Amino acid sequence: MAHDAPGVVHWHEPKPGQRAGLGKFGRVKMPYDIFMEEEGIPCFRGIGCSKVQDLPRARWERKGGAGTFIQLHGTEGKWGCFVVEVPGAGALNPERHIFEEIYYVVEGRGTTEVWIEGDSKRHIFEWQAGSLFSIPMNAWFRIVNASSSPALLLGGNTCPPVLNLINNRRAIFENDFVFHDRFSGADDFYQYKDEIEPDPVRGLAMRRTNFIPDVANCDLPLDNRRSPGARRIEPFMTKNAFYLWVGQYVNGRYSKAHGHGSAAVLICIKGKGYTHTWPTEASINPWKNGKADTVKRIEYEPVGMVTAAPGGNEWFHQHFGVSREPLRLMAWYGPHAPGRTAGVPGEKLTDRGAIDIDEGGCAIPYSMEDPHVRAEFEAKLKANGLVTAMDPHWYEPGVKTESAGNT
Ligand SMILES: [Fe+2]
Repeated sequence: MAHDAPGVVHWHEPKPGQRAGLGKFGRVKMPYDIFMEEEGIPCFRGIGCSKVQDLPRARWERKGGAGTFIQLHGTEGKWGCFVVEVPGAGALNPERHIFEEIYYVVEGRGTTEVWIEGDSKRHIFEWQAGSLFSIPMNAWFRIVNASSSPALLLGGNTCPPVLNLINNRRAIFENDFVFHDRFSGADDFYQYKDEIEPDPVRGLAMRRTNFIPDVANCDLPLDNRRSPGARRIEPFMTKNAFYLWVGQYVNGRYSKAHGHGSAAVLICIKGKGYTHTWPTEASINPWKNGKADTVKRIEYEPVGMVTAAPGGNEWFHQHFGVSREPLRLMAWYGPHAPGRTAGVPGEKLTDRGAIDIDEGGCAIPYSMEDPHVRAEFEAKLKANGLVTAMDPHWYEPGVKTESAGNT
């Protein structure tokens, strides 16, 4: 091949003793990264933020509002997140798409209209700050602001994996396929259903509902897994693969640290608190072992968020509420539900995050944690005029909090 054509880069076979290729190279933009850039709004990347309301937003032409993407470290390619502002007394543009999407209302009140292509009937439901709803895959929907001031919504979706595989926007945003299996058209489709059943994989409390009017205050059943008295529900919405849960800790009590890979993002919807996250290779006691510089930390209030495992491999993380109100969190995973990892079907798995490290799980019992954790938590509570609800007995070697009761 001629080597003198201008602007053409040729491949050369390596000489003996050399390897082919560049060896080191920059990570490429995925189709979803390019999509975000071309949407013309900012993209916040980091381990988290104290309040999504404070992230700068710009006019978002396709949606008909203003917004910002949020792509926290470790979630890239796994699921998408954004804040969208609906103009006062206005509405976002109708849209549909071949990916799942859920919305949490940060501020304001309004309605959402949902309908199937060619169907004259529109489902309409009202929402307010604290509401959570899901749009069935490829259903048409329109978000309408009922007040004269702007409304702010936090969205989460499965756009990145879909777009990165299909890499054709028309196939995703202009596709006529109707998912009748996901949108029945029943009159009560967007009525809140508060019945609880065990989820079919791990047996945890699950609620099948496509709408929750006030997720910041709704009733939560007892969970007791990572701290005595902790409460938790998994909403199963519009038959989504997008997985999420809502949890709350007893005031003055923190959950055990536990480790796993990335996908989960914690979203603070009530109370105030902070999160530590650090790579598991920095040991279970990073402060004591001179690895304090590996610990990432963020403080938050409603509606702040933090990625549980910011990058690669497994990270320990631990969440602390230090306000007069108990700390309530949502955790959004995209289509990466714990317990639904790919592998040989039928293989026996363990709910590792619920089980202590000395029993084969990945939770650090209070008795084995870094002394810095307790000292800092108690100091923070004291500074806020609050008292601890941690039982000193739990820090004694071998003590299992599972036997501590539901106080
Ligand atoms: Fe976690």
